[in-house]
Amino acid sequence: MSEKDRIIIFDTTLRDGEQSPGASMNIQEKYRLAQNLVKLQVDVIEAGFPVASPGDFECVKNIADNIRGVQVAGLARCHRKDIDAAWEALKKGANPRIHLFLATSDIHLKYKLKMDREQMLALAVESVKYAAAFTSNVEFSAEDASRSDLDFVCQVFEAVIRAGATTLNFPDTTGYALPDEFGRKISYLSDHIPSIDRAVLSVHCHNDLGLAVANSLAAINNGARQVECTINGLGERAGNTALEEVVMAIRTRPDQMAVSTGVVTEHIYPTSRLVSTITGMPVQPNKAIVGANAFAHESGIHQDGMLKERTTYEIMNPADIGLSKGNLVLGKHSGRHALKDRIETMGYSLTDEQLNRVFSRFKEVADVKKEMFDEDLEAILMDEVLRIAEKFQLQTLGVMSGSRVMPTAGVRLKIDDREVEQAAIGIGPIDATFRAIAELTGTTSKLLYFSVSSITGGTDAQGEVMVRIEEDGLVVIGQGADPDIITAAAKAYLNALNRMIYLKKETSRSQKSN
Ligand code: KIV
Ligand code: ZN
Repeated sequence: MSEKDRIIIFDTTLRDGEQSPGASMNIQEKYRLAQNLVKLQVDVIEAGFPVASPGDFECVKNIADNIRGVQVAGLARCHRKDIDAAWEALKKGANPRIHLFLATSDIHLKYKLKMDREQMLALAVESVKYAAAFTSNVEFSAEDASRSDLDFVCQVFEAVIRAGATTLNFPDTTGYALPDEFGRKISYLSDHIPSIDRAVLSVHCHNDLGLAVANSLAAINNGARQVECTINGLGERAGNTALEEVVMAIRTRPDQMAVSTGVVTEHIYPTSRLVSTITGMPVQPNKAIVGANAFAHESGIHQDGMLKERTTYEIMNPADIGLSKGNLVLGKHSGRHALKDRIETMGYSLTDEQLNRVFSRFKEVADVKKEMFDEDLEAILMDEVLRIAEKFQLQTLGVMSGSRVMPTAGVRLKIDDREVEQAAIGIGPIDATFRAIAELTGTTSKLLYFSVSSITGGTDAQGEVMVRIEEDGLVVIGQGADPDIITAAAKAYLNALNRMIYLKKETSRSQKSN
């Protein structure tokens, strides 16, 4: 397969993905995700929109300064101040890319930009030239391209190539396109842009009609060589093209798609879990590739077929995406070294300090649980991922509940260096626990979302709790896992309260520096 057949995977989870309502990530979380994207071996990471806020600027700079082995892109409108901010954030990167965008559709030109086509074209060319003076790696996106006059897009693309753009992105910004039509448009571009050989043709599809992946695949089969996508399909409104779906479609159907990606697919599942944990956006169970049911076989006929020959009902091997569900991991007698090996096989790498904490949590849980599965270990790892400086720490929790008992909780917390305790009653034991915690911490936050799920089967399974809280217009998530679901809920609530403190500090720091 020649270089021409290699699809460039441009991951925009940290930029377009973060535009998903409620999916914000802090600087450490973004950095951690960027490290995972490097392991996944995507080609480009779009780290953010530097001019949007000081926080965004810092995240992009942090990733560009420290992450290697991947191109780091920063988004910019066609304004000099955006391009300056993008370059300032990116300039220490190994191969930084400035990603410019300006709409080409008449709807956007008339109502949003209040420009005519000629003005748009001039601004695009001027901005690309300005960016190209900083770096030779410049991408230009024709926002709302799929609803634009195609000959005008060709004219703009030809002009920006001559101005120095090396990647031309054709976004389906509103998720309006249909696969055949979208494929034909991409083919038209290849045939009608005289200098097309000097640039890579890219697509960026939104999922409003559920067609983002189908449109991206149609584009590849018609000449696109970069796909912009996000983990779990996260993104504005109905989201973006799901990275895992495009990559696995290419891998599973070489007979239909004579292209390849450089993605190490075994890192797909851990990365999906990481994104869902840090954004607090659960993956729907029937989601292709990474959903909990994606490899579950329920009907007797299917199970029978699977037992006889896996390929009767499975087109992909779960191990290829790094899924090792149901694998018994080590028991309570296992050593630190064996645990470290297992963690690494699962796609995580921890510092010694993190490994020590995970090891002692693992021992605690293994002590009460008969069998420890990969999923149990993963829940412990996710707690570690969301760990943040803890002002509030759970010391002890006792609850009383039952059919004829007023649910009561007694909570003992460490707040900084002080130990405090409080009892409360509630509608149920979790409500009572949360009331006691709220009393002790003085929080005025509102609980927006609460979910509890079982990590594995069986009554001895660990419970995993996810909460989302809101205070003064800020929203954070919290997560906790424990064989006792009320303790898991208390941990999740405290994790959210600790993250809220962090977010408030960050927000006021960024407002001051503004
Ligand atoms: O959807 C879109 O058009 C975008 C551009 C900035 C590429 O996200
Ligand atoms: Zn987008």
